[in-house]
Amino acid sequence: MPTEAQTAVNSIAHVDLIDVCNLKCPTCYRGVGVMPNAPKKMPLSKFDDIVTKLKSEGYQWVGPYNWTEPFLVRDLQDYVAVIKTHGLMCLVSTNFSLRRIDNLEAALRAGIDKLIISVSGFDQSVYEINHVKGNVDYVKANAERVAALKRSGAINTHVNLRFLRFAYNHDQEAKLEQYARDLDFEFEPVDAGGDPFRDLYSHMTNEHWKVVISGVRSERPYDPPGKVCPLIFGGGTAIDHAGKAYLCCAYPNHETLEVGTYLDLPFEELLLRKFNHPLCAACSFPRKDASAADKQLLFEAVRYRLGEKVIDEKLVSNGGQASKLEHAAEDRGAAAG
Ligand SMILES: C[S@@+](CC[C@H](N)C(=O)[O-])C[C@H]1O[C@@H](n2cnc3c(N)ncnc32)[C@H](O)[C@@H]1O
Ligand code: SF4
Ligand code: SF4
Repeated sequence: MPTEAQTAVNSIAHVDLIDVCNLKCPTCYRGVGVMPNAPKKMPLSKFDDIVTKLKSEGYQWVGPYNWTEPFLVRDLQDYVAVIKTHGLMCLVSTNFSLRRIDNLEAALRAGIDKLIISVSGFDQSVYEINHVKGNVDYVKANAERVAALKRSGAINTHVNLRFLRFAYNHDQEAKLEQYARDLDFEFEPVDAGGDPFRDLYSHMTNEHWKVVISGVRSERPYDPPGKVCPLIFGGGTAIDHAGKAYLCCAYPNHETLEVGTYLDLPFEELLLRKFNHPLCAACSFPRKDASAADKQLLFEAVRYRLGEKVIDEKLVSNGGQASKLEHAAEDRGAAAG
């Protein structure tokens, strides 16, 4: 059973099922090749174990993708079904730039609750600037299949057409907005990171992160008191096809940023490893005000490290003997002097 704080804070975990994408977006670690494609896949039984543990930690949503293209998984519907069997919500984000997706209807019917279709243009000449090797006609054909399924009542997936807005593609926005309206999709423009005309990512190999981390001192310039990173406290959980957990979903799945094997470690240990990670000292990703639940989550993790276990607000020593009352008495004794 998750603690109240876990249920309040842990929103979504991203789990890569494979280690491949079909495109070469220059604004993505996968696209530039610092995470090279490899023919790997997470077995369904392992995914089931991971989703079971995620549920026990209070996660509400699972996204079966992080740095990959989920519709390359030919039996994606089985993985979606696992998420639904556990009573969790399923979010899928796709480039949809695939000529054939034989299991599109099956995957949607299996229970994809929300689908994000990522695009950077309506016209091929603009689309292919960022979505390198992509074909916007395939995207449109797949989007229209989804719209038809929605209209027929076969699925009630919420669909967002996500427009990655760069400096050069503003003229595409109105066309994509109208297209989304015609298909009954939500239109979601987002200011995209990176710039496809500049090579900003291809040097960001594992060696690069090692060097960044080696230069870090103990100061935490981006972490003033009362602030935390929303990718540690909220929605940044990242697990790769092999079941390894990483610091957050904003950075590549590199060894230097790995925090351990997800199934082998308690949630509290994973949280502390992320919270103390040296890269955060060098990362300006916007922080948020720490909520009461965020603070409670960290207290629980620290108690775990101190040898106590928190179960539904009741403190129990690792030996299972001491009650919450006994700890409270100890606390009073300590306070008294
Ligand atoms: C790395 S992608 C993997 C999923 C899938 N291949 C896709 O592109 O939707 C994960 C998320 O990153 C978003 N994304 C991709 N490029 C981006 C960029 N340059 N800036 C901001 N978000 C981006 C996508 O919209 C997607 O929801
Ligand atoms: S389609 Fe998605 S995963 Fe693939 S390179 Fe582009 S952003 Fe990255
Ligand atoms: S590396 Fe940056 S984005 Fe990731 S958890 Fe640390 S502060 Fe947040």
